[in-house]
Amino acid sequence: MWDKLLEHHEATKGRRFETMLDADRAADFAVQTGDMRFDYAKTNIDADARALLIDLLEKAGVADKRAAMFSGAAINETEGRAVLHTALRNLDGGPVMVDGEDVMPGVLATLASMEAFASDVRSGAFTGAGGKITDVVNIGIGGSDLGPAMAYQALAPYVDGPRCHFVSNVDPADIASVLRSCDPATTLVIVASKTFTTIETMTNARTAKAWMGESVADPAAQFAALSTAEDKTADFGIAAERVFGFEDWVGGRYSMWGPIGLSLMIAIGPDAFRAFLRGGQAMDQHFQAADWAENMPAMLALVGLWHNQVCGHATRAVLPYDNNLARLPAYLQQLEMESNGKGVDMDGATLSVNSGPVVWGEPGTNGQHAFYQLIHQGTRVIPCEFLVAARGHDDDLHHQHQLLVANCLAQSEALMKGRDLEEARGKVAGKFEGDELERQARHRVFPGNRPSTTLTYPQLDPFTLGQIIALYEHRVFVEGVVLGINSYDQWGVELGKELATALQPIVEGGDTSGKDGSTAALVDFLRSNGL
Ligand code: F6P
Repeated sequence: MWDKLLEHHEATKGRRFETMLDADRAADFAVQTGDMRFDYAKTNIDADARALLIDLLEKAGVADKRAAMFSGAAINETEGRAVLHTALRNLDGGPVMVDGEDVMPGVLATLASMEAFASDVRSGAFTGAGGKITDVVNIGIGGSDLGPAMAYQALAPYVDGPRCHFVSNVDPADIASVLRSCDPATTLVIVASKTFTTIETMTNARTAKAWMGESVADPAAQFAALSTAEDKTADFGIAAERVFGFEDWVGGRYSMWGPIGLSLMIAIGPDAFRAFLRGGQAMDQHFQAADWAENMPAMLALVGLWHNQVCGHATRAVLPYDNNLARLPAYLQQLEMESNGKGVDMDGATLSVNSGPVVWGEPGTNGQHAFYQLIHQGTRVIPCEFLVAARGHDDDLHHQHQLLVANCLAQSEALMKGRDLEEARGKVAGKFEGDELERQARHRVFPGNRPSTTLTYPQLDPFTLGQIIALYEHRVFVEGVVLGINSYDQWGVELGKELATALQPIVEGGDTSGKDGSTAALVDFLRSNGL
């Protein structure tokens, strides 16, 4: 399947793609949906490569798998589950059947109960022991944290409800600093856990309950739960009216569209949250309807496959020139790496190509003054994914936003053009001579020909954020289908959890003799230092 692409890459990898970049290419190697544009003209993908990539996608059966996903088939084969986070944003769509039952009435009823609760918290109809809720503490980890935490920051200009805090780490430093900043009498604690068994979350939830119990007579009355395990939420003491349930066909890292988004809904209000859902739904509709070459998630995925599996670039930098998207790289790390970091295909056979890439990044312009050095002159090529809005939210500072945009576009241009030795010599001529001039010039050479893509949109509002997140979700889906893997399980997180459970009694003072020498020595060292 990959041979022709690998051959094409081999034959074209030396050329400078800048030489192909006329206005026609700029128009042709970009995809638009609504007012969002994805530009991949600054890559070495040409029309032949694109045709081969689309062929790959067709041969992998992406269209059939896409239909299967949207129609509620159990495409998460290792867990025997449907994959239907799309139903959570199917606001005006038709029925969605799972095992012969339409799930939409339940989805919409849960949304309505979340909206009623969020409105009560926001208005003060729901109070804590000390009156109106001023702070919401979301306790969750992974998919029960990263989505709402990322979106709360992304949509900061739309927050008009209580302050939200996100506690995820079992490190007591995390919860201690958040609780220190809150008044228990006016704080709502949301325990977000699909399984309601995750040790970090349950430990933090108990800590929060004890903290609240010190000064509030009925702490459980200021707790809400978001989970598929309603029996366990009851055992924890949370009344059913504040439990917002969802089904196992919503994967943790795909769950911010439903109850896991409650903290965000309380912060920005139900209307803005619906706009976020509508953005996701708009991307779903585009993904299902557009031809492959015009299909944004498909092309984003194919560019990703080209750079990672074909060209062999092991990492990809996500660089939002949108400071409010500071947590997007962390969110995408879970979305992409937990989904497509698999070594075997659906049948258990070892993959013939690499699994998904390492995803990392930071907002621009900060990264420019930190790690871009390596992106520009390091020996490895790192495909970059820029995101930038036409407008920020501070109209009186629009000139500053223009500076941000100039920096974003300059980076992709610099990565593409580079600077050859001749030009570098010109930069130092007059300052140095002879061998020293040559030596200094060589330090100022930029290889260029480094690929990047740019996603642009008018403004980061709730609808746009919904589009962006759904875009990335579908990209993961397409890449996963082409790789033949199950993007919806996460067995790779289990071993560490099992070993941590076994290590806990040893860390608490037990015998280390059954452990390997390194682990035992580390425990001994920590013990001698106060563990
Ligand atoms: O351990 C990984 C994981 O299962 C993620 O997939 C999930 O998002 C996270 O833990 C939290 O799980 P839960 O929502 O069940 O607490």
